[in-house]
Amino acid sequence: MHDKILILDFGSQVTQLIARRIRESHVYSEIHPYDVDEVFIREFAPKGIILSGGPNSVTEAGSPRAPQIVFDLGVPVLGICYGMQTMADQLGGKVELGRVREFGYAEVRAHNHTSFLNDIEDFRDAAGHGMLKVWMSHGDKVADMPAGFKLMASTPSCPIAAMADDERRFYGLQWHPEVTHTVQGRAMLDRFVLELCGANPDWEMGHYIDEAVEKIREQVGNEHVILGLSGGVDSSVAAALLHRAIGDQLTCVFVDHGLLRLNEAEQVMTTFADHLGVKVIHVDASAEFLSKLTGVTDPEAKRKIIGAEFVEVFQAEANKLTDAQWLAQGTIYPDVIESAGKGKKGAHTIKSHHNVGGLPETLNLKLLEPLRELFKDEVRELGVKLGLPPAMVYRHPFPGPGLGVRILGEVKREFADLLRRADAIFIETLRTTIDKETGKSWYDLTSQAFAVFLPVKSVGVMGDGRTYEYVVALRAVQTLDFMTAHWAHLPHELLGHVSNRIINEVRGINRVVYDISGKPPATIEWE
Ligand code: XMP
Repeated sequence: MHDKILILDFGSQVTQLIARRIRESHVYSEIHPYDVDEVFIREFAPKGIILSGGPNSVTEAGSPRAPQIVFDLGVPVLGICYGMQTMADQLGGKVELGRVREFGYAEVRAHNHTSFLNDIEDFRDAAGHGMLKVWMSHGDKVADMPAGFKLMASTPSCPIAAMADDERRFYGLQWHPEVTHTVQGRAMLDRFVLELCGANPDWEMGHYIDEAVEKIREQVGNEHVILGLSGGVDSSVAAALLHRAIGDQLTCVFVDHGLLRLNEAEQVMTTFADHLGVKVIHVDASAEFLSKLTGVTDPEAKRKIIGAEFVEVFQAEANKLTDAQWLAQGTIYPDVIESAGKGKKGAHTIKSHHNVGGLPETLNLKLLEPLRELFKDEVRELGVKLGLPPAMVYRHPFPGPGLGVRILGEVKREFADLLRRADAIFIETLRTTIDKETGKSWYDLTSQAFAVFLPVKSVGVMGDGRTYEYVVALRAVQTLDFMTAHWAHLPHELLGHVSNRIINEVRGINRVVYDISGKPPATIEWE
């Protein structure tokens, strides 16, 4: 059993970062909604509890509160922002309503040599006080600390910027230690988790493989498992892990919808079937997909058709494997976190996302999700440890509907063939062009890059002749979360080189343009 830190989520946009930072320090942590029941918390047996930030005001009637047991378990508790305020309120202090809430840089002064901040500082001010550079969340303020607490830090505009009760090991911070703008954030979280909670840093990917393998074997016994392999990181790592655990009891189904990148099907088969010895059924369903897409131009209709066809093809294959009792999926932790207060349920659908994950319950299979506890970067680390090629594991994301959303309007095989070749030239150039300043390739400096096929013809000239051919747009973005993104400022020479190669090598394309739209208002994909 690992030592665990429980994070109760009050709906902050950055709650996931708390868990990630703690895991980076090799301590296992999980996020749960602030209102989980007390029995759960007791059984979870945390070494410490963190109360996240959140959008509400403690001064509003009915605003969220931490379950009382948080303060009764006798374990250290850290309240961050809203978490600090509800802690103050629940333990008998006073919180004052602020007018606006904004994030911002602040320099706070440490007070009273608390065990939380002892020896943690960025600089000394003229008077010799320890100072910290932090990312504050201004808004409501703690006006009176509860009995037993002493002042831990302050700023002129926020006199109680942090508070500590070293006796009970309760701490409150008005700033966010989990964001990188708080320079000593890592030291603060380490202090809390490793020293004050005394959690053992035993969360290591190497051990994780052994534990996961054992757990999968226990769960599955001698039954059989099927998995939809897409070639993406999550399903690939899930396949490699399952194969390590149960070998031939795993059968992967790889549906080729004809909308994959250049040589992708071959690569998936080589990596899994030839190299790792995984049983993979390669279904070439490109003719069915393309025929269903004939004449369809509406982006949402295209997505729905591809999604539905995928399920149909997969289901037909699954039905042939009569001895399979389990369906494995590459669901990862950010997909399962049940967060509070983000209003996700009512969120507006910009595009209907299709994932290999969306398979129907009618398959009547038990669900196996071996990556459910892991963040994306942990999944990647695991993949490399399991022997997958790093180039596959660190690949840019690729949407489930594939080139179907990168060929605008009607999808035709001829268009897909042109696009695949143009895209491969772009990606190859990004991989081989090294930025002098950082020493990294432009592939690694971008989060996602690809070519888009525009079914419009324009006039060109080649040799002595006039051409009238299609256009390809290049898209490259930089982003952390894919919710917002900047277009990448690729070097002009790189763009020029890609354009020359595409126009010279891909007969049928005579013009290349670069997409300089940010998200929002544009999305990353064109459809
Ligand atoms: P947008 O275009 O909405 O894309 O800015 C954000 C990210 O999501 C990816 N994407 C998808 N991924 N199934 C997926 O698995 C989909 O249907 C899908 N649509 C978009 C997109 O590539 C980008 O990384």
